[in-house]
Amino acid sequence: MLQNVADIEKEILEFEISSPESLEQFRLLYLSKKGKVSLLFDQFKTVPSDQKKEFGQKLNILKTLAQEKLTNSQSSFSNTNDDLSIDFSLPSDLNILGSRHPLSIVRNKINDIFNRIGFTVSDGPEIEDDWHVFSALNFPADHPARDMQDTFFIEKNPDILLRTHTSSVQIRVMENQKPPIRSLFPGRVFRNEAISARAHCIFHQVEGLYVDKKVSFADLKQTLLYFAKEMFGKDTQIRLRPSFFPFTEPSAEMDISCSICGGKGCNICKYSGWVEILGCGMVDPNVLESCGIDSKEYTGFAFGMGIERITMLKYQVNDIRLFFENDVRFIKQFTSEA
Ligand code: DAH
Repeated sequence: MLQNVADIEKEILEFEISSPESLEQFRLLYLSKKGKVSLLFDQFKTVPSDQKKEFGQKLNILKTLAQEKLTNSQSSFSNTNDDLSIDFSLPSDLNILGSRHPLSIVRNKINDIFNRIGFTVSDGPEIEDDWHVFSALNFPADHPARDMQDTFFIEKNPDILLRTHTSSVQIRVMENQKPPIRSLFPGRVFRNEAISARAHCIFHQVEGLYVDKKVSFADLKQTLLYFAKEMFGKDTQIRLRPSFFPFTEPSAEMDISCSICGGKGCNICKYSGWVEILGCGMVDPNVLESCGIDSKEYTGFAFGMGIERITMLKYQVNDIRLFFENDVRFIKQFTSEA
């Protein structure tokens, strides 16, 4: 019997526990109900009474030995696991930065460029009346020019509508301020148009207005050249093509040399080397008069551009719908921008 205890003690000491699996093997072999140590306890009653004391003591020592080996190995395995899952030398989690919407980035940049030459920023309502969106801007009643923009009317009242352009803010500002006026009006506009990669029923414009004595077309051209270079790079060139808008006379559309191919020709500029970015012109005297400004004393220039268009050109975005879906995979690409 005692020899048996000594053999098992030797086995326990030599048993190599090298993995959680061998740990479990060890437990089953020695400490489970049918394990070798437990069986020895079962045999206790058959031990002659004069040997019971010694046998009992040896048995208890054996059991403690096996249990200690088990718990030590258990804790060494669980420590190893903890060590693997927590590495205290790793840098802490990065602060994930949010990002500004690309349209906000470009709007802020436009504001900033014009602020530097004295333009202030003003706002106007998105729900407007016919006067501010059309009539005061020299769109005659029933004139086909009104069809240039498909309008959303509110509650079938033809007088109340969602503004189709930010030119309406020109009127609000000229009605309320005396020249000199040098202002910028960024904002949302609405047109009843089918949504596609190139058009949306909601988009953003920035309108500019400068009214003072002796403002000339040359001032307009220099201002826009400065803007184009600041926005698209110092090598950017501009060209003005004659156009028509009811509220400006003369009117023009401005192209910039293609910022993608540098004017050599690519699919963005349709191989012409130029891309259109805005409409502009000298404020029509009728518009000044509608707002109570003496057109003999004052002249002015105005321009209007789509923020989506400028953003698409600047960042080579080819689908306007991306700006409205707010898919973070798109938005977060602009994280590094101010
Ligand atoms: N309001 C025009 C549009 O939405 C853009 C525009 C053209 C604004 C010429 C102007 C301008 O101020 O002078 O298409």
